[in-house]
Amino acid sequence: MNDNTAAVSEIKRLLGESLPLAYVRSFGCQLNVSDGEKIKGLLRKMGYGFTEDESEADLIILNTCAVRENAEDRVFGIVGSMKKLKELKPSLIIGITGCMTAQSHVAEKIRQSYPQVDFVLGTSAISGLPKLLLGCLNGERFAVDISEYDDFSEEAEQVRESSFKASVPIMFGCNNFCTYCIVPYVRGRERSRRPEDIISEVAGLVRSGYKEIMLLGQNVNSYGSDLGGDMSFPQLLRRLNEIEGDFLIRFMSSHPKDASSELIDAIFECDKVAKHLHLPVQSGSDEILHRMNRRYTAEKYLGIADEIYRHDPDFSLTTDIIVGFPDESEEDFQATLDIMERVKFDNIYSFIYSKRTGTKAAEMADGVTDEEKSRRMRRLLELQRGISTEHYKRFIGKRMRVLVDDVSKKREGFVTGKSSEFIIVELEGSSSLIGSFVDVEITDAMNWAVIGKII
Ligand code: SAH
Ligand code: SF4
Ligand code: F3S
Repeated sequence: MNDNTAAVSEIKRLLGESLPLAYVRSFGCQLNVSDGEKIKGLLRKMGYGFTEDESEADLIILNTCAVRENAEDRVFGIVGSMKKLKELKPSLIIGITGCMTAQSHVAEKIRQSYPQVDFVLGTSAISGLPKLLLGCLNGERFAVDISEYDDFSEEAEQVRESSFKASVPIMFGCNNFCTYCIVPYVRGRERSRRPEDIISEVAGLVRSGYKEIMLLGQNVNSYGSDLGGDMSFPQLLRRLNEIEGDFLIRFMSSHPKDASSELIDAIFECDKVAKHLHLPVQSGSDEILHRMNRRYTAEKYLGIADEIYRHDPDFSLTTDIIVGFPDESEEDFQATLDIMERVKFDNIYSFIYSKRTGTKAAEMADGVTDEEKSRRMRRLLELQRGISTEHYKRFIGKRMRVLVDDVSKKREGFVTGKSSEFIIVELEGSSSLIGSFVDVEITDAMNWAVIGKII
């Protein structure tokens, strides 16, 4: 399938006993983080160790995100500052991977303005890394490989960030072409992994002690549509739910246009599936939704929320919202605030619209000023703070099952974790609880978390 095995062995031989260190940093969504874990898996095979400190690294890889302009600016800032590191250590190799590289104008800008960068590797070309790196180790100047290989998942060994939470991509790419979004251009068309590969990967992870499995895709609801109709996403959930063991299944993201009753039934009938759905609404205005090419209306979205709350009024919905899409009027924005009040999201991830070269929305006229967009963002956050404060109170006196994931940064003697509903829970306890499930009773609620005590 690819000839990276020879390159891996050659690098291993070149590096010998030297144990060079690699610094790998991923930006953007969890799919990109998962790619970063695969890159680390490949590097480990070649003989690299890892460091969190770029100044001691022999190899730096920035695995980039292109979804908004500020994500790209951040990377350019970091690459700029790495010029100094390269001067101090001329043998340092710097590579850029991930979504930014798939835009030819960005790859060109890197080549022109950042001579400290040694190689650029495309999003779907991870399996080409060994060959590229071998070239650099042999003194080649500026190597580029943005060809489309396989998605490098089935044979990939990963260096996972956590020993109890694992991400499992189930599909790659996106077919939706929301008019503001760069993802379909940098990640290509939808490709679903074979169900048997996903099932055996999840079963293996559960056997090795993983407690939370996060299934990833840009639009998981359309999983399987390219597999000839043998397996839909709800069917996949049911199959994964049958795997023996004590673990929680999460997934993201879901697209409202494909959120079917079949999906909702599967969520409620599968005991291992989290009682939380991240369902990006983006806007509450039908006019804006239409111009975004989202293919649903506010009414349809509210219908899904109602159906879910009929099953379980405590169920947790979270969402993504874009503020200041081109020519968003005050009424359009008000419609977004209205839908927030009606649905009562537990959490929102909100972004000011960012123009992406090559997308349809980049061609749309936009009469809304940056100041107005920032003002709307503040109004939206203010409203959500109030909603979360009120809404989190519904959990007081109830029981939650929490996967503890860290010590609390806010409270001495407390640990923190997430409930099945994806709510942050702070509870008294020691770091020995990290990585295990505990049952807690909720005693208090804030606007960003609830407090619980172990039963
Ligand atoms: N595939 C996922 C999300 C992909 S990107 C989905 O459809 O839900 C994550 C979020 O970034 C999007 O939901 C959207 O709210 C935001 N986003 C994407 N492109 C953007 C842009 N050009 N400007 C601002 N926010 C954007
Ligand atoms: Fe982007 Fe829309 Fe695809 Fe999500 S569904 S990745 S927002 S095009
Ligand atoms: Fe960013 Fe690419 Fe993910 S653009 S959000 S890292 S798919």
